[in-house]
Amino acid sequence: MADRKFNFCAGPSALPTEVLLQAQAELLDWRGKGLSIMEMSHRSDDFVSVAVEAERDFRELMSVPDNYKVLFVQGGAATQFASVPLNLLKLGAEADYIDTGIWSKKAIAEAGRYLKVNVAASAKDNGYSRIPARSEWRLSESAGYVHYTPNETIGGVEFLDIPDVGDKPLVADMSSTILSRPVDISRFGVIYAGAQKNIGPAGLTLVIVREDLLGYASDSLPTMLNYKVASENDSMVNTPPTFSWYLAGLVFKWLKGKGGVQAMEAINCRKADKLYSYIDDSEFYANPIDLSCRSWMNVPFTLKDDSLDQKFLQEAEEAGLLNLQGHRSVGGMRASLYNALPEEAVDALVGFMQDFAGRNA
Ligand SMILES: Cc1ncc(COP(=O)(O)O)c(C=O)c1O
Repeated sequence: MADRKFNFCAGPSALPTEVLLQAQAELLDWRGKGLSIMEMSHRSDDFVSVAVEAERDFRELMSVPDNYKVLFVQGGAATQFASVPLNLLKLGAEADYIDTGIWSKKAIAEAGRYLKVNVAASAKDNGYSRIPARSEWRLSESAGYVHYTPNETIGGVEFLDIPDVGDKPLVADMSSTILSRPVDISRFGVIYAGAQKNIGPAGLTLVIVREDLLGYASDSLPTMLNYKVASENDSMVNTPPTFSWYLAGLVFKWLKGKGGVQAMEAINCRKADKLYSYIDDSEFYANPIDLSCRSWMNVPFTLKDDSLDQKFLQEAEEAGLLNLQGHRSVGGMRASLYNALPEEAVDALVGFMQDFAGRNA
């Protein structure tokens, strides 16, 4: 078996080894058909069965209610920064956005090209280390929807509860938290997520949209971004990213085999706890995020002496712990603990951090 190391990359991130082995076994000859999944028509019965099953498994994993559509689209989460306002434009010419870090800021900038954005709350004043309390939000009466980023992949800030925004459709960029635990989908109007963290390979984006929100699109919305058109065509308006869709389906089966998102919740909580507890107990490492909103998926941390950063990264890599460098915009370190990263990886990381601190304190 290949020598697979522990991969803490924020995205594209680790995929389950079992899934890659299955894809490898099926690569040349998918289920005795004499060709690979990548080489067959997306309209063939075989591929359609794969697509339908992936959706069914995803719906089951996330308990998606019947009045929600699940769309398999392209363009990444960043395309959704435009798709959301354009698909919901007729709900109102204004929308509320919550600014909790780099990804929400990008969503705000893009939405601002299509409608008036009211930044109803911002973590800027506390250096993006704490989510403003719901009581401090200034939602506007005329906003068509409220957008937030449940998990800021770069800053490591996560909402541990779903905010209450009354009757307004709540829109969430769940790119880096989807499938990490159960979520009450019925609290949302639209959820979107790039695939390359907990879903599968890059190239695929999932959108979950409440049916009654289809039909509020801007007249100038490009057909390929239109949720209603995607829904009416079973996400096959044009050629979808078939291999990513197939692989996501394998990941969903793997998740089901592991006990689903309930089981993942327990494991993910334990993984994050272990790492934060060690960081908090040590004098050598630090995490700046308020205890009330620390991300389970992305744990940024700094060394007390940043001149040791390169040495830390190099020795970590030699120890089989890959991709621990922080995002280029913030520096430091970041360990992403998505579903496919096993608990042993966190144990190995903590062991390495202890050893490194002992030798360099
Ligand atoms: C929270 C969040 N939103 C959006 C994006 C952008 O995703 P994509 O590269 O799929 O457009 C990312 C990427 O890491 C992300 O973490």
